[in-house]
Amino acid sequence: MAGRYTDEQIDEVRNAVDLVEIASRYVRLKKSGSGYVGCCPFHKEKTPSFHIDPDKQLYHCFGCGAGGSVFQFVMSAEGLDFPDAVKLLADSAGVRLPDLAGDGGEDRYRRKRDIYAMNKDAARYFRDCLFSDEGAEARAYFQRRGLTSKTVASFGLGYSPKGWDGLLRHLAGKGYPRDMIAEAGLCVHSDRGHTFDRFRGRVMFPIFDVRGNLIGFAGRIMGGEGAKYVNSPESIVYDKGKNLFALNLARKSRRGYYILVEGYMDVISLHQAGIDCAVAGCGTALTEAQARLLARGNTVYLCYDMDEAGKKARDRAFEIFKGLDARLRVITIPDGKDADEFVRKYGGGEFEKLLSGASSVTGNRVDDLLARYDTDDVSQKVELINEAAALFAGIQNAVEREAYIRDLSAKTGISFEAIASEVRKAGGRLRKKEVADDVRKSVSTLRPAREGPSGGRRESAERRLLGLIGADAALYAKIADNLREELFSEGIHRDIFRKIVEIYKDGSDDAERRLLEAYRGREDELAAVLVKTDDPQSAAKAAGDYINVIEDEILKERISGAEKAGDLALLAELLKNNRKAGM
Ligand code: GTP
Ligand code: MN
Repeated sequence: MAGRYTDEQIDEVRNAVDLVEIASRYVRLKKSGSGYVGCCPFHKEKTPSFHIDPDKQLYHCFGCGAGGSVFQFVMSAEGLDFPDAVKLLADSAGVRLPDLAGDGGEDRYRRKRDIYAMNKDAARYFRDCLFSDEGAEARAYFQRRGLTSKTVASFGLGYSPKGWDGLLRHLAGKGYPRDMIAEAGLCVHSDRGHTFDRFRGRVMFPIFDVRGNLIGFAGRIMGGEGAKYVNSPESIVYDKGKNLFALNLARKSRRGYYILVEGYMDVISLHQAGIDCAVAGCGTALTEAQARLLARGNTVYLCYDMDEAGKKARDRAFEIFKGLDARLRVITIPDGKDADEFVRKYGGGEFEKLLSGASSVTGNRVDDLLARYDTDDVSQKVELINEAAALFAGIQNAVEREAYIRDLSAKTGISFEAIASEVRKAGGRLRKKEVADDVRKSVSTLRPAREGPSGGRRESAERRLLGLIGADAALYAKIADNLREELFSEGIHRDIFRKIVEIYKDGSDDAERRLLEAYRGREDELAAVLVKTDDPQSAAKAAGDYINVIEDEILKERISGAEKAGDLALLAELLKNNRKAGM
C-alpha cells in the first residue's frame, strides 16, 4: 500500500464509534457486571464466552482467544484488512477520511462491494435463464440429479446460456463497466481481441463467502466435450484458499460440527437431506486457512472419496489439521460411492449412521495398515505391529491407547500383551525424541508457541493476575514483593508485566491507559489481559490465588521435565518441594 492513515485519523474513527454498538450488530449482547457478554461470533458456542469491556473498548473471547479493538473486530467479522476496516467504520460514523492517494487502495472496499452487487445480478441472470426456454436441459439435469426446486432456489443455482455474450450484454446494459466484468472473471478475452462470457452452456453454482457475499461461480458441464468445471478466477473478492463452498450456510447449522466433502454436488445433496453442516473446497486442495475456518474447537468429519486421490487428500488434511484445535473424524462411505450418490440412494438417515460410525484418525490409519499388510504372513505381521505401535505410542490417553491395542489384537490374533510391549518400546523411542525436540525448541526460540485458544491453567492465571495488577496500583504496591518476572511465561505475558512495572515505576497509576497506548494497533494481544469476566470480591485474595496456581504449574512443569530427562536427583529435590507445598 502506498498510503496509510495517520494515527490521528485512526483515532478520530476510533473515538467516533462504539464497540458495543458495532458488535451488537453481530452478537446478541447482555449486560454483565461492568461489561457485556454474548456468544462469540468467531467460533461456535452455546454458552457465552465473548466479553466486551466498554470502558476500554476492547473485546475478548475466553473460548477461542479472539480479541482486540473495534478495528480488529470489524476485520474479523467482515473479513477486511486494516485500512478497509477503518474505512468501513469511518463511513458508518460519518467520519470523512482523505483518499489514500495513488494506490487504488482507497476505493478497494467500494470496488469489492460493487463486484458483490454485480455478481448478484449475474446470479439473477443465470437463474432467469434456468427458468426460461433455454434452460429446459439444465432444469432436467438438476431434476435427474435429484435436486428439488427448493434446493435449486436456496443454493441460487442457475444456467449460463450457450450464446457468446448474453451475460456481458446483460451486465453492460445495467451499467457495469467492462473492466469490472472482466475483473470479476465473468468474461474472457480471446487471442483475436474478442470478449465473451466465461460461462456458456453450463449449470451454475454461485459461491458465497462466509458473510454471504457472492464472490464467484462454478459452472458444470452437463455432458459432451470439455472440462467438467469452469470456475471464476481469483480476484479481489475471491480467494479460493480462504473460502469454502456453503460455509455461510453450515455456519448457521445447529449441529455444532462440520463435514468436509469433495464436491459441490456432495454439499448440495447433503444439505437437501437435512445435513446442513457440509462444506467443500473451491476446486483446490485444502489449505491451512480453510482448516482454520473449520477448526476453532469443532469436530470436523472428513468425507473424501476412497480412491487414491481421496486418500492423498485425506492424509494432507490430517497434516493440516494437526496443529489446530479440532477433533477429526473420518467417514468411510461403503461401495466406493461419494456422499452425493450415497444420500441420494439411501437418504440422510443412513448418512447419519455413517457419522456415528466415523473413525478417529488413528482408527482410520489402522484400517489402512490392515488393508496394506497380509496378516497371514509372519514378517508382514511384524511390520504391521511395528507401524501400529509407533502410532499408538503417540496417544496420550491410556484408556484410548488400550482400546486401540485391544481392537488390533482382536483383528490380528496377536496377544494384547505382545502388542502392548511393542507400544511401550516405541513409546521409549518417541519420548527420547520428544525430549531432544524440547531442548532444541527451548534453546532456539525465546518466545514459546502461543497457547491453544482455550489456554492452560497457568496461562489463564497469568492473564488474570496481569489484569488485576494492571487495574489497581494499590494492589500492585501491596503484593509487589511476591511478584517476579519468571512468574510470567516468556512472550507477551512477560512483556506486559515488564511494561506494567515500568509504568508504576514512572509514578503513573493509570497502567491500563498507558498499556493501551503502548499497544496501539496490537490491542488483540492486550485484550486477553484487560477484558475481565467478573469483578473479583477481593482483588488481593484473588491475586494470591493466581500466584499460587502459577507457582504450582511451574513446579509441575519442572517435575515433568526432570522426569522426561531422567534426572533423578533433580526429580527427588522437586518432589520434596512439592510435598512441602502441600500438594
Ligand atoms: P459431479 O460429478 O457432478 O458429482 O460433481 P462433483 O462436484 O461431485 O465433482 P467431483 O467429485 O468430480 O470433483 C470434486 C470437486 O473437484 C468439484 O466439486 C470441483 O470443485 C473440483 N473439480 C472437479 N472437476 C473439475 C474440473 O474440471 N476443473 C476444476 N477446476 N475443478 C474441478
Ligand atoms: Mn460427485
